[in-house]
Amino acid sequence: MTNRKLGRGVALIGAGMSKFGAFKGKNSRDLFVEAYEEMLQSVDKGFNPADIEMLMVGNYSSDLFEGQGHIAPIMASWVGLTPRAAVRVEDACASAGVALRQGILAIASGLYDIVMVGAVEKMTDLATEKVTDTLATAADATFEVPAGFTFPGFYAAMATAYMHQYGASPETFMQVGIKNHENGALNEKAQFGAKISTIMEGRRASAAKKGLPIPEWETEMEFLHDDKANPIIAWPMRLYDCSPVSDGAAAVLLVSEELAKKYTDHPIFVVGSGQASDGALHDRDTLTAIPSASEAARQAYEMAGITADDIDLAEVHDCFTVAEVIATEDLGFFKRGEGWKAAEAGVTARNGKKPINLSGGLKSKGHPVGASGVGQVVEIWKQLRGQAGPRQIERELHYGLTHNVGGTGQTCVVHIFERRD
Ligand code: COA
Repeated sequence: MTNRKLGRGVALIGAGMSKFGAFKGKNSRDLFVEAYEEMLQSVDKGFNPADIEMLMVGNYSSDLFEGQGHIAPIMASWVGLTPRAAVRVEDACASAGVALRQGILAIASGLYDIVMVGAVEKMTDLATEKVTDTLATAADATFEVPAGFTFPGFYAAMATAYMHQYGASPETFMQVGIKNHENGALNEKAQFGAKISTIMEGRRASAAKKGLPIPEWETEMEFLHDDKANPIIAWPMRLYDCSPVSDGAAAVLLVSEELAKKYTDHPIFVVGSGQASDGALHDRDTLTAIPSASEAARQAYEMAGITADDIDLAEVHDCFTVAEVIATEDLGFFKRGEGWKAAEAGVTARNGKKPINLSGGLKSKGHPVGASGVGQVVEIWKQLRGQAGPRQIERELHYGLTHNVGGTGQTCVVHIFERRD
């Protein structure tokens, strides 16, 4: 396919997010406002919201989760942006990443100069079984769902095939979970802001308080092998291999490149954007790769004029721990079949050569499905600007990447961001 370029440059001048978690008594509007307000406050030289010309809203299924369709104008009205055009974008768990891309294209086309991309999902009003059914509508309702597949089941099939083909083990995936909980423990916005060792201490303390036998795990691995503490959801994916059911919102402000310095001396530039589609999992040749991710990444690297080696850090779509390992291969960080070795060797840890999911990833930060793609951008924005607090990478950073997957990879969208100053 031909190499594509943006019609004009696009920059990020602000970003914000709500806390991710399970919030009784809050709805999408409340979460959206939290993200919106933090986004406005993050603009270094101040920003008048009246300057926003268009709103893109990433959202997977407010219809089924909250009984509320047509959510884009509702969000526009709630934050006072009507009568501007407000567009909802739905591409399963990639809804937010695709909304971002549409916002970028809206500016690159020259039609608008300033676009807000907001993304929101409120999942926890439904019981887990209903959430599972709602998520399954992103799979193939003719060939996959009637066969009994759910999302943990799909990724379990991919994990089993990956172990068989390359020699990884369930412990490989457990290590990804341990790493992402360690990162999430440094993120005050994370749903599970605790290391697994801290969760273990809490369980021991709670057992002691209730006069129950105190669990005898000594290591995180022992805890993760305990069927009671870490039940099998769909083997080999256990509870701590799964992203949770979450509520949350995130928002970013995009402007044309020439306007960026009016709002901040440290804009972050969008230098690569790629998107690809594919058939559902049953229809593909491979269970151990997501071809749409490789294609989206190829487009993004080509647009940016860089390679996978140039990426300093990435937020990837770890809806299940196996997905992170496969993503690091699809994105070209490691050769096919080598991602699991890199994960085990600590290459993807915070102090490793290729840090992945410093925010805690979807596993620990949380996965409000249609909001996650913009949540990833918030982390890259903070890291590239040196504002990530206790989880800030200390070395000089130039390029950050986001990788957002819809379903099992029917959609994938990849973005590359650059700090130039
Ligand atoms: N990781 C770690 N702990 C988790 C967790 C997760 N993913 N999900 C829930 N928990 C914890 C809860 O905090 C709670 O802990 P507590 O007893 O100390 O309070 C406990 O596990 C039970 O929580 P509950 O909400 O009742 O769990 P559940 O059994 O209803 O749901 C899953 C667990 C894994 C089935 C659910 O999180 C899930 O479906 N995840 C996948 C979501 C998904 O498919 N997303 C789309 C991806 S493409």
